[in-house]
Amino acid sequence: MKVAVLMGGWSAERDVSLSSGAGIAAACRTLGHDVTEIDMGRDVAQRLAAAAPDVVFNALHGTPGEDGSVQGLLDILGLPYTHSGCTTSAIAIDKELTKAILVPAGIRMPQGVLVSSASLFAADPLPRPYVLKPVNEGSSVGVAIVTDASNFGNPIAAAARGPWQEFPTLLAEPFIAGHELTVAVIDEANGPRALAVTELKPSSGFYDYAAKYTDGLTLHICPAEIPADIEAAALAMAVKAHTLLGCRGTSRADFRWDDAQGEAGLFLLEVNTQPGMTPLSLVPEQARACGISYEALVQRLLDAAVA
Ligand code: DAL
Ligand code: MG
Repeated sequence: MKVAVLMGGWSAERDVSLSSGAGIAAACRTLGHDVTEIDMGRDVAQRLAAAAPDVVFNALHGTPGEDGSVQGLLDILGLPYTHSGCTTSAIAIDKELTKAILVPAGIRMPQGVLVSSASLFAADPLPRPYVLKPVNEGSSVGVAIVTDASNFGNPIAAAARGPWQEFPTLLAEPFIAGHELTVAVIDEANGPRALAVTELKPSSGFYDYAAKYTDGLTLHICPAEIPADIEAAALAMAVKAHTLLGCRGTSRADFRWDDAQGEAGLFLLEVNTQPGMTPLSLVPEQARACGISYEALVQRLLDAAVA
């Protein structure tokens, strides 16, 4: 197959995407495909036309590769592509919009408030501790946990200093103590399959950008050493979320679990429609634990794209 691997772009996750893309392109070559790597710029339509691929492997993360924009372009160009389509991507990139679909269907997610970074902050938007994050970024870009100990002083001054001025809309959510869990879902012939639950234990702080992409900073425990009912609930919630959002190929659901509250303490935070494929990423790691090699995972995603 002629495969164009779209990567890079101009999102805050450009470097993550270049790492995912390099791995995917290498896997495609190992699989015997004819590969064109495209570091996405504004001329992407012309470069895709020149490459004339049979299928596009979307290795982009963040905006515009994960928010429906690139998916819409590929739909217009008539090129099949991996991962979710336009509408699903546009909804899932927005952590608050995702709740509008999933919470009424019975999936527990933290109740947050949207705050505009321009009008921030006459006061804390929630009682501390809370998590402040851009509503539509990935890889923990711009995420902060605001605790009583946070030396933020006047939040208005902190907002002006902090990273958030780059992000027009922020989401504040109550901080959920306890465990960071994640579940990869892949589509199989008989429907979506949740692979495993992984617990992420960063050596310090929270599972932020550095903890995600620096080898050795986070312990990945797969399968997570959690009670069977919590494991089953997380696996089921991940599949339900994948299905309700209309995800294709793969997705990854991220959770927090407060063990002091039992199953009522399990909260879905978000669904990633373009989960990382880097050497430290969790979908390939869970796939490997289930006997699916990186190359086999890439081939499955290509097959799903052209099915
Ligand atoms: N946003 C990153 C790539 C992830 O979810 O893995
Ligand atoms: Mg994410």
